[in-house]
Amino acid sequence: MTSPAPPVRLAPSILSSDFSHLADEVSLVIEAGADWIHVDVMDGHFVPNLTIGAPVVKSLRAATAAYLDVHLMISNPAQYLDDFISAGSDMVTFHIEAESDPLPLLDKLHRAGRKGGLAIRPGTDVEQLLPYVPACDMVLVMTVEPGFGGQSFMEQPLDKISAIRAVAADSMEIQVDGGITVETLPQALRAGANVFVAGSAVFGGEDVPANIAALLQAMSGPRTVA
Ligand code: DX5
Ligand code: ZN
Repeated sequence: MTSPAPPVRLAPSILSSDFSHLADEVSLVIEAGADWIHVDVMDGHFVPNLTIGAPVVKSLRAATAAYLDVHLMISNPAQYLDDFISAGSDMVTFHIEAESDPLPLLDKLHRAGRKGGLAIRPGTDVEQLLPYVPACDMVLVMTVEPGFGGQSFMEQPLDKISAIRAVAADSMEIQVDGGITVETLPQALRAGANVFVAGSAVFGGEDVPANIAALLQAMSGPRTVA
C-alpha cells in the first residue's frame, strides 16, 4: 500500500526571531500561515554557537499548540533526548554525524509518541544516512554548514534528496534548512523537499506576514513528488 506524499510545509526558524518576545513571534508566524515552528538547538561543540535548550521548548509548549520541530545540533543527542521529549517536542531531528547508533533514539521518540528524524551536514556522504532512512519520519538536508542563520544557500546538498527518497516511505518528510529564500526555495521544491525552514527570510525586514506570504507563494510552484 502506498501512502500519500506529505504536503508542503513552511517551518520558520525562531533562531532569527526576537527571543525577548518569543511567544508573540510564534503567534505571528502561525497566524500568517506558517505550518511548523523550527527550534535550533546548538551546544557550542557540534557547532561553534550556543542557542537554546529544552527549557525554552517547554515554555513554548505551554504557550502554543503549534507543531514544535526541534533540530538538535549537539554532540551527544542521546544524553538530552529525554529532556526534549519531556519538554513537549513534536519532532526531534539529530545529526547522523553526532550519533553512530541512531535507531535506539528514533525508537525512543516513537515509543514516546513523537516523530523522529536525522539531519545531515552538507559535506557528509549520503551513504552514511541511507541505512537509517526507513526508520525516520523526516530527513533534514542542511543547505548551509549548521551553526548560524543568515548564510548563503548551497545547491550541492540537494543532490542527496533523490537517493534519500529512493529508500524512504512515500509519506516521509524531507526538510531543507539553510539559506532558504523566495529565490532558493523553488530549487529545493523541485529537488523533492517538502518542508522548508527559513529564519532570516521570515524574520528579516519589517513585514513578517508579507515574508511568509512570499515564501508560501514560492512553495506553490512545480514540485517533485516521489
Ligand atoms: C542553521 C540552522 C538553520 C538556520 C536557518 O544552523 O539550522 O535552521 O537558522 O536560518 P536561515 O534561513 O537564515 O539560513
Ligand atoms: Zn535548523
